[in-house]
Parts: sequence; C-alpha cells; structure tokens
Amino acid sequence: MCGIIGILSDEPVALRLVEALRRLEYRGYDSAGVATLEAGGVTRVRAPGKLINLDDKVRAARLESGVGVGHTRWATHGEANEINAHPHASGRVAIVHNGIIENFRDLRLALEARGRRFDTQTDSETIAHLIDEGLTEGLTPRDALLRAVRQLKGAYALAVIVEGEEDLMMGARQGSPLVIGVGRGEMFLGSDALAVGPFTSQVIYLEEGDACVLHRGSRSIFNTAGEEVQRPVTQIDAIAAAVDKGNYRHFMLKEIHEQPDSASRTIAAYVDAIEETVGLPDRPGGGAIDLAKVDRVQIVACGTAYYAGLAAAYWFERIARVPATADIASEFRYRSPVLSPTTLCLFVSQSGETADTRAALDLCRSQGLTTAAVVNVPTSSIAREVDAVFPTLAGTEIGVASTKAFTAQLCALLSVAIALGRHRGAVSRDRERAFARSMMERPRLLSETLKLEAETADIAIDLSRARDVLYLGRGVFYPMALEGALKLKEISYIHAEGYASGELKHGPIALVDDATPVIMVAPADELLDKSLSNLEEVATRRGKVILISTADGVTSAGPSPARTLVVPDCDPLLAPILAVVPLQLLAYAVAVEKGADVDQPRNLAKSVTVE
Ligand code: M6R
Repeated sequence: MCGIIGILSDEPVALRLVEALRRLEYRGYDSAGVATLEAGGVTRVRAPGKLINLDDKVRAARLESGVGVGHTRWATHGEANEINAHPHASGRVAIVHNGIIENFRDLRLALEARGRRFDTQTDSETIAHLIDEGLTEGLTPRDALLRAVRQLKGAYALAVIVEGEEDLMMGARQGSPLVIGVGRGEMFLGSDALAVGPFTSQVIYLEEGDACVLHRGSRSIFNTAGEEVQRPVTQIDAIAAAVDKGNYRHFMLKEIHEQPDSASRTIAAYVDAIEETVGLPDRPGGGAIDLAKVDRVQIVACGTAYYAGLAAAYWFERIARVPATADIASEFRYRSPVLSPTTLCLFVSQSGETADTRAALDLCRSQGLTTAAVVNVPTSSIAREVDAVFPTLAGTEIGVASTKAFTAQLCALLSVAIALGRHRGAVSRDRERAFARSMMERPRLLSETLKLEAETADIAIDLSRARDVLYLGRGVFYPMALEGALKLKEISYIHAEGYASGELKHGPIALVDDATPVIMVAPADELLDKSLSNLEEVATRRGKVILISTADGVTSAGPSPARTLVVPDCDPLLAPILAVVPLQLLAYAVAVEKGADVDQPRNLAKSVTVE
C-alpha cells in the first residue's frame, strides 16, 4: 500500500529518494518523508499530503548524507498528518514500513511498560523501537533487526538505517514485497522494481521472511531461521520511462487512449495472425498447465480486475462450456471454498501485489490446486507464485483508476476462454478462426470508440450535477455496468451503483426519478429486446437514460433514451472490450468537470497491499 525506497551510496541521496518516491506515489499519497544520517545522526524531513509538499522541504534542508530511506504513505493506523508520516525513528534507528503489524498493540504496551515513549499512532513506530531496544542491549544491527522481526505478526516490508552506521542499510519482508537493487558501489531497497528501476537493472526479489544487510560493496540475505541464503539476481527492463504523461492532462486520459496499443500487444501474445488460432502464450511460464485436466474455472480478483473476471466467467461458460465462477478475493478466502483438484484457480490482477488476491492464491496453493494468473506486472509476487502466467501487456498503469489494464485483462481472459474451448472441443476450428479475426479487429475498433470523447465530455456536464447514477447491463454487459459505476465513484465521488438490468424491477427502480441518470450498456445482442424493455421501464418513470449501444441497438431503442453513445458494431461476445471505453471516458470527463484529482483520487492507492 505504501511505497518504500532506500539508497546507500557515496553521493548525497536525498533528492534521489524524492525522485524515486515520485514513481511510488501511486501506492499512496497521504504523506511522504525521508530520513538520512546527517553527521551521524538521523535527520527526518516529512510532510503531509502529496509529494510536492515534501519536495520543497527536502530541497530546503540541504541533506548531504549518502544513506537514507524514503516513504510515501497510504494511511492505515493513525491520521494522515506529519507526525504519523514515515520514516519513524526511535533512538538510533529510522525505519520505513509497508504493511500492517497486527500485534502492534500488544508490542506497544510491552514496550511502553519497558519505558519506551511513542510519538505516533502508527503500528510502524513499534518496529523502530524494537530494533533500537536490541541495539541498546548491545545486539549488532543485524541481530537487532532479526530479533525485532521475529516478534512481528502481520505484513511488513522494511528499510532501516542506523545512526553511526554510515555504510549500512537493512531490509526485511513478510507478506509485502521488497527488492534489493544492486548498483555499482551502491545498494537500493524498493517496495517494487519500479522504485529502483531508474538506478539499476539488477534486482533481487527477497522471499517471504527474508532479511538483508547491505553495505555499499556487499550484501547478505538471511532466511526466517537467520541462516545466510543466496537469492538470484534478476535483470529487469528499463521501466523508468513509463512515468510520463506526454501531452495528456492526466495519466488516466493517456492510458484510456493507449488502449488500442495495449490491447494489440496483449492480443498478439495469444492470437496467431497468420494461422488465425487462439492459444496460450508459449513463453516461459506462459502455458505450463494441462488444459485437459481443467473441468472448472474459479476466478478470484478485486475491484476492476474482479469485474474483468466476472465477464470472463460468462465467456468460460458460453465459449468453453466449462463451469466458471468469479469471486471477490477478500470474500473467497473466508468462505471455505470447496474446490476440486480439476479446478483451474485463475487470479486476475494488474499489479500482481494485491494482498487479498495473494492471500486467496496462498489458500489455493496450500490445497495443491492448479493456479494461473492474468497479471500485468511480470515480476510481481502473484506472477512469481502461480503455475502459469497469462500476461496482459498493458504497460505500466499509473492512474489509480484502472483503464488500459482492464481492457487488456478482458483480451487475455477472452483468449484463455477461447483456447480452453478449442481444447475441449466446444470451439470449432471455424469458430476459432472467426474469434481470431474479431480479436485482431479490437485495436482498430478501440480507436473508433475513442472518437466518442467529445460526446462523453458534453454528456458529462449534466452528469456531473447528479447526486446518484445508476448503471445497467445484462449478461456480459452487467460486469461493464459494475465497472462503469466503480469508475465514476472512485474518481468523481458521485454515488453510483451497477445493477443487472433485469434486477432493476426487484427494488432499485424505486430510485429512478428525473434527477437520477441511468446509464444502460446494451450493444445489440440476443438480449437487446429485454434490455430495451428495461429501458422503457426507466423512461416511463421520467428516468433519463444514456444508452451505450451499437447503431442497431440505438435505432431499436427509438426516442426513449435521453442521450445515446454509439459503439462500433461487432460480435456481441467481444463487445464489452469496446463498450467499457465510453464508461471510462464519461467517468473521466465528469471528474474533470468537477475539478477532482483524477489520477490520485482521495482515500485510494493504486496497489492495495494490505488486507
Ligand atoms: O492490482 P489489482 O488489479 O489486483 O488491483 C485490484 C483493485 O484494487 C483495482 O482494480 C481497483 O479497483 C482500481 N482502483 C479500480 O480502478
């Protein structure tokens, strides 16, 4: 949830820490801070709110040290103010932490009973005290760290510096990711590879329970038992360049416009354009599962990724004729799911770090089930833990509101459903060929759909005055209605709900009046007539319907909708990939109209690494 960076160098590190935090701000932006060792003593500079507040303070502070840690926070325990901002310090120690320490109350009471005074309301400060306590008892920094982490219950990724130890930085992880970046005479710690990417291409992914002790020219890694272990060094791509808005006003708008490209890249991983076949990617880790053994698909994900999974459940049943269910990860784990050994457990995640999804994956792995993930970050924890990776090639997504990752997830999931259907004999060779062709048309049709931008901006003027908005969809468009509602609420703060169109009459229709816009997603398919009946039910009650449909659908709807947005005609099974675009554009335009912070909406973070 929070972003962590640590740098050990011969050069001053403060401004580089801030630069790295800029790339991590997507993980949280309630406050930010750095700590360095100035003249041997811990110096902290912290600021509430966005990184820009910290930037000014760090420049003014003229920090000289070659060792320091930085943090950008998504608050869990304690108000989002300067006091609770990381780094936290106690005695000789400063730490930054990502995760949640579940037993912090007990630890804090015990530490207070031993005379320690706490300055903050956070769980994280406990860790600084535990390490400092070890040092005051005469332990080495390494032993003080190892003893401290053994007392922690919950999730943590830590970076630690110690007063008087100019050539030392330490780290530890459990439940939250942490990477070491190995530079030339420099060492880095980061909450993901993106944090250290601009400084070095050599990274080491620490494993669960690992701790590390870094010096400028050497490193040691210890497992949970305190034994020194070796972890492989991985070469990563130059990923720093992705953090650039180009000519766009917001990352979200840029990412919406990148969808023809991101879909094209993703589709190319599954569809052979020459043979017109659809298969699983045959790169390492891509297709390491035996489709012949799959007779059920269990999809698990959160938020937008869950809605992609919900659409995929329709596809797996319709196309591959295999039973499929989609679950919200935070519920799945605790409902004691009954899963057969022939179930493919499929996790969908942009970041590959979402704690709820990872916990569900752990559960399935502990039962020895076959696991696969549709994931956008190939180096993420989820990607590294599943049996097979079905990649989305959306590129780095910075906007907190997921857009291009969602359509890439739809492309990947649809491909997996077709590949599985082909394998099970539910998809004929001719149907596969037709699917391949339709898939290859997606990028062009996405470009066409993006031309709706001006119309959505116009509709957004009225929409931004609404207090509540309803979204309706049937069949595979129902998850799109849910996604449209989520997009609107997360970035414009307008209350929005998605419903299955047929469910409206069972209660939600009571909400319909002339002040509550209803957005119906209904491209022409075999359910169009039923959707249009629902549209009439709304219009009769003075509800203003904005209909998103194909030209046929709009003609059939006649004069009843207040506004229409026409998406290109295509195979209705593939239409969700297009139909979601006007929903993204609408949410974006409403947020802009309301002057909201589009890329960093309040209370949210891009990557939710706490349960
Ligand atoms: O990284 P993930 O795909 O696992 O993230 C899951 C959700 O947190 C994410 O989709 C969230 O709902 C987005 N803010 C939606 O725009």
